[in-house]
Amino acid sequence: MTPTIVTTDLQRRFGKTVAVDHLALSVENGEIYGLIGPDGAGKTTTLRMLAAVLRPSGGSASIAGIDVVRQPERLRRLVGYMPQHFSLYGDLSVLENLTFYADIFGVRGAERRHRLDRLLHFARLEQFTARPAAHLSGGMKKKLALACALIHQPQVLLLDEPTNGVDPVSRREFWDILGELHLEGVTILVTTPYMDEAERCNQVGLMHNGRLIRQGRPEALRQLTPGQMLAVYTPDLLQAEAVIADYPGYLAHQVYGDRLHVFLDVADAAALERFLTNHDVRVQQILPDAPRLEEAFVYLMTQVSDA
Ligand SMILES: Nc1ncnc2c1ncn2[C@@H]1O[C@H](COP(=O)(O)OP(=O)(O)OP(=O)(O)O)[C@@H](O)[C@H]1O
Ligand SMILES: [Mg+2]
Repeated sequence: MTPTIVTTDLQRRFGKTVAVDHLALSVENGEIYGLIGPDGAGKTTTLRMLAAVLRPSGGSASIAGIDVVRQPERLRRLVGYMPQHFSLYGDLSVLENLTFYADIFGVRGAERRHRLDRLLHFARLEQFTARPAAHLSGGMKKKLALACALIHQPQVLLLDEPTNGVDPVSRREFWDILGELHLEGVTILVTTPYMDEAERCNQVGLMHNGRLIRQGRPEALRQLTPGQMLAVYTPDLLQAEAVIADYPGYLAHQVYGDRLHVFLDVADAAALERFLTNHDVRVQQILPDAPRLEEAFVYLMTQVSDA
C-alpha cells in the first residue's frame, strides 16, 4: 500500500539557509509518526509544506495521493494542521473560536454539537466557553487550538509541537485523544520535544539539518546506543565526567540530573565502582538500566555533530 504521506527530494530554502534538504519522508496509513530533532532541524518547515501553507523550493510531497502544490484546497479539507504558533481569535470566546472553525469546515447540526461537546470536554474548557480566547491561560490556549485543529475530524493530522508548554496531565489527556483518533484510523504526523511522547509513536524520525538521519520504531531506535548502559549515582558528577573516558571499554556517557549514564563494552558495575572510587568519585549506587529513546536521541546527535 502506498504510504499516506510521501515526500520525494523535498527542499525548501530561505535565502542561503537550506531548511529542508532533499527530504524523503514516508508515513504509513493510520500510523502515529513522531518527528523529532533539535531547534532549526526543519520540522516546522516540513509540516508547513505538507499543510500547503508554504511552497517547496524543489521536490514533491503528497498526502493520500493529493499533491500539496497542485491541489492545496483539497488537501486542506483532508488535513488538520496545528501550527507551532497557532493563532486564535482573541476577542472571540472559546465557543466562538470553535464554532468559527466548524463553519469553515462545514461541520453542522447534531454532529457539530457532538464534536464541540467532546472537544470542550477533552480540552477541559467546558467551564470557560464564554471566556475570550485572549483571556485564557497559555495552557488553555494550546488546548483550544488543539480542539480547533480537530473540528473537521481530519483523516490526517499535522501537529507541530501541539503540547509544548502544556501541563503533564493535559499532555496525557491529549495523547489519549490521539490514541482514540489512531484507533479510528487517522494518520498523525506530530513533532514533539518530549521524548516520552515520541516513545508513544509507531515510528520516529530524527531530523537534523533538513534531513532525516534515522527512522524506526522507538524500540529499534533505543537499540542504537552503544554497548550496555549503567546508571551511576554520585555527588561528584563533575569528577566522574572528568575521568570516565579513561575507563577500559568506555564508549560514551550522558548526564541526567543527579546521575551519569555510562555506555560500556561490558556492564560490570563492581569494576566500574572500583575504578571510580580509585579516582576520588564517591559512588552512591550503580545500577544497570535500559536506554530510552532520550539516550538514543542524545547519542545520535553527538555522533552527527562530531562528524
Ligand atoms: N520564514 C523563514 N525565513 C527565513 N528562515 C527561516 C524561515 N522559516 C524557517 N527558517 C529557517 O529554517 C531552518 C529550519 O527552521 P524550522 O522552523 O523548520 O526548524 P524546526 O525544526 O521546526 O525548529 P524548532 O524545534 O526550533 O521549532 C532554521 O534555520 C530557520 O531559521
Ligand atoms: Mg518548529
